[in-house]
Amino acid sequence: ATSVKSYEYVILGGGNAAGYAARQFVEKHGLSGHKLAVISRESVAPYERPALSKAYLTANPPTRLPAFHTCVAGGGAPQTPDWYAKNGIDLLLSTEIVDCDLNSKCLTAKDGSKYGYGKLLIATGSDALHLDELGMQGAHLGGIHYLREIAEADKLYEAMKACAGKHAVVVGGGYIGLECTAALVINGVRVTMVFPEPHVMARLFTPEIAAHYERIYAQKGVNFIKGTVVDSFADENGSGQVKYVRLKNGPVLEADLVVVGVGAKPRTTLLEGALAMEARGIKVDGHLRTSHADVFGAGDVITFPLKMYGNRMARVEHVGHARQSAMHAVDVMMGATTEPYDYLPFFYSRVFHLSWKFWGDTPAQAKTIVVGEMNPKLVAVWIDQDGHVVGTFIESGTEHDENKLKELARTRPKANVARLEEAAAANDVDGFLN
Ligand code: FDA
Ligand code: NAD
Repeated sequence: ATSVKSYEYVILGGGNAAGYAARQFVEKHGLSGHKLAVISRESVAPYERPALSKAYLTANPPTRLPAFHTCVAGGGAPQTPDWYAKNGIDLLLSTEIVDCDLNSKCLTAKDGSKYGYGKLLIATGSDALHLDELGMQGAHLGGIHYLREIAEADKLYEAMKACAGKHAVVVGGGYIGLECTAALVINGVRVTMVFPEPHVMARLFTPEIAAHYERIYAQKGVNFIKGTVVDSFADENGSGQVKYVRLKNGPVLEADLVVVGVGAKPRTTLLEGALAMEARGIKVDGHLRTSHADVFGAGDVITFPLKMYGNRMARVEHVGHARQSAMHAVDVMMGATTEPYDYLPFFYSRVFHLSWKFWGDTPAQAKTIVVGEMNPKLVAVWIDQDGHVVGTFIESGTEHDENKLKELARTRPKANVARLEEAAAANDVDGFLN
């Protein structure tokens, strides 16, 4: 029989959450001596995934590993494989787990090797939603790109360089759509964006905020086709390479390159039937414990209670949550805290010279007040039905502005609507902020 290599702690996954969890084990809890394994399907040590749609594609020269291994965000040194070795952590790369037996506490890899654990942290993240999984005709063709892991970023980078002066179709108007469009434009590719909503970033931006970003994209030559989706892709003369993108309402676009960003799906398959699920994610309690003893979760894959919103259950696909939930889960696993995880939702993006941040919540009935024309600042505040500030947004803020807006989203004071509207009418961003 295959022997089982056993660890006190195993982190399943090698992404953002895994990197921050490993650091927490070492730096806060002094773990050493091969008690911890990080098991990842990827061939490289955990890295800051957000870089893949930013400096990896746009910097000159482009950022490459080891520069953005975790945990460089916030100024640490990159955790290269040497760091894991030096700290007595077994980093098992190119190792895909295909079976999780929670009763015998044993994970089985694709090659048959087995790993036992005392406590398990599930950090399998999410994957891009692929159009061929939805049965779309032509979605298997070459030249159709997704972006989740580093190998995909390498392929996209090469394809983009080969397409300078040519035309790309970007499918999706969310984070990937906007960040990859910016990267393509910076690399001299002409872009048409296609998405079903009336404006970009519909899951967060109001029409007014979106209009400012769309204006800047349009000035850079980006063409928008809104309110429709792709029906199928086709090649030319059986080349196997995408050439035509047919839209649902009829028109056919020509494309030398396609980038698809139509959302993500949490990687839960391994645990289905074994753990309680909610809202497509692995359900955890306020201490990041799953429904099975000694199994914890962090990052994109979990559905967790948002303490500050009355424990409303949520799944969050953002790096701030991956980092914080991972560190908190490790503290719980080590018996170092009895506090629940208390996350203030935080989202951000960077494209071209722009950089926005958002904190808090956007309830459906909220009123939004927007001030500024992005020259360079724009601020927005979401006010709930009871008149409290619940969400805050800023483009091109200073550290002082950002701290102030983060604090407002966290403390949710009663809004002085008259004063805010006055500042909005006068276009007085600094008055609005002070
Ligand atoms: P992540 O997806 O990072 O890691 C999961 C890991 O588990 C991977 O290494 C995977 O291979 C591994 N794995 C899965 N199943 C496995 C198995 N069965 N066996 C072994 N290993 C397995 N967020 C943000 O707030 N700001 C930003 O600017 C960006 N930018 C951004 C750009 C791009 C291109 C992407 C794809 C995503 C972002 N994000 C982001 C989102 C952010 O990167 C994301 O929320 C975190 O990476 C989530 O971290 P996790 O560790 O949960 O999953
Ligand atoms: P997303 O949810 O941000 O956007 C999906 C977009 O897909 C929607 O805005 C919509 O326009 C579009 N869409 C849906 N179905 C479509 C269809 N059939 N045809 C055309 N468009 C369609 O997801 P994403 O942009 O794909 O990002 C993937 C993951 O990566 C997410 O988890 C996201 O949070 C993460 N990510 C985050 C950042 C960031 O936080 N700055 C950056 C990149 C990626």
